[in-house]
Amino acid sequence: MTERFITSTLNKRDPARENTLRPPSFADFPGQDKVKDQLELFVHAARERGEALDHILLSGPPGLGKTTLAYIIANERGCNLKSSSGPAIEKPGDLAGLLTSLQEGDILFIDEIHRLNTTVEEYLYSAMEDFFIDIMLEQGPGARSVRLNVPHFTLIGATTRQGMISAPLRSRFGLNIRLDYYDPRSLAQIITRSAGILGIAIEPEGAAEIAGRSRGTPRIANNLLRRARDYAQVRADSVITEGVAQQALEMLQIDCDGLDDMDVRILEVIIANFGGGPVGLKNIAVSVGEEEGSIEDVYEPFLIQKGYLVRTPKGRVATPKAWEKLGLKATTRNHQGELF
Ligand SMILES: Nc1ncnc2c1ncn2[C@@H]1O[C@H](COP(=O)(O)OP(=O)(O)OP(=O)(O)O)[C@@H](O)[C@H]1O
Ligand SMILES: [Mg+2]
Repeated sequence: MTERFITSTLNKRDPARENTLRPPSFADFPGQDKVKDQLELFVHAARERGEALDHILLSGPPGLGKTTLAYIIANERGCNLKSSSGPAIEKPGDLAGLLTSLQEGDILFIDEIHRLNTTVEEYLYSAMEDFFIDIMLEQGPGARSVRLNVPHFTLIGATTRQGMISAPLRSRFGLNIRLDYYDPRSLAQIITRSAGILGIAIEPEGAAEIAGRSRGTPRIANNLLRRARDYAQVRADSVITEGVAQQALEMLQIDCDGLDDMDVRILEVIIANFGGGPVGLKNIAVSVGEEEGSIEDVYEPFLIQKGYLVRTPKGRVATPKAWEKLGLKATTRNHQGELF
């Protein structure tokens, strides 16, 4: 198995498995303290007033808990949640169908909301703001529209690509929440909680070891926990100790700092092809074969947070830590002749 295969597998969503590990309430949801406080207050206030919640946009890299939070909000508000996704709502009629199936106060969760097509998005505006949609019945000269009233609902939109949400759509959300990577302590709590649910024996040091290699991401933490369990069962006496976790993760070639293969490729490209930078986003994107937006919204935030990359007005620059990571010495001059 190549490293790329392993990391892409670890990043995969597995809805059936993920559901069993989804915390049902804010109290069971470790980490993201600021976001949690803000949402808890917001939900509490709406519940007390007996009103529908204002629309909420949740953004952030994959696997950080956007879908989980949407379900928690519904649970804590005590309302129903209907789930769909940007690409699934192809026509205004699909949206009308969804909206009219809701009851007063219900939540409509639209995942990957940045992938809504523009026609549907425009219909959504009046629904969000004034709770009606005007549906065109025919085309051409005989065109006429009917107005459909929709119940006071709450839209929760989730996106990994905050930059791709149009300004008019973004401005219609009352609350714009951005999730950030988790610190190792919160990840260790998540791992311990998941281990409890799955009946896995794990020592605190074992949980800490997995937490440190999880790229700040609960989804990866949970997947690594499962892999470590397999290893512990076959090679050790079923308990994930620090040593067992280390051996398991080394066997899987999981980077000790939690970087995945795309992270490493981005750093490699900046250093090997562009002398460490500064290099523009476009050049990086073409070199690694990934969209600019994904690099900006999904990969860079982690590399910047971990101190491997900096954004400068001239472009992206790999830090000495990145050179070290790739086993190189950052004493070389970059392509502009500046000493690094
Ligand atoms: N704070 C948390 N505590 C415990 N488990 C969490 C937490 N955040 C996420 N998880 C778990 O991580 C997995 C992924 O979470 P979730 O599906 O909510 O991520 P997401 O942000 O919606 O990802 P995507 O962008 O891929 O849709 C789920 O199994 C969920 O239970
Ligand atoms: Mg999701």
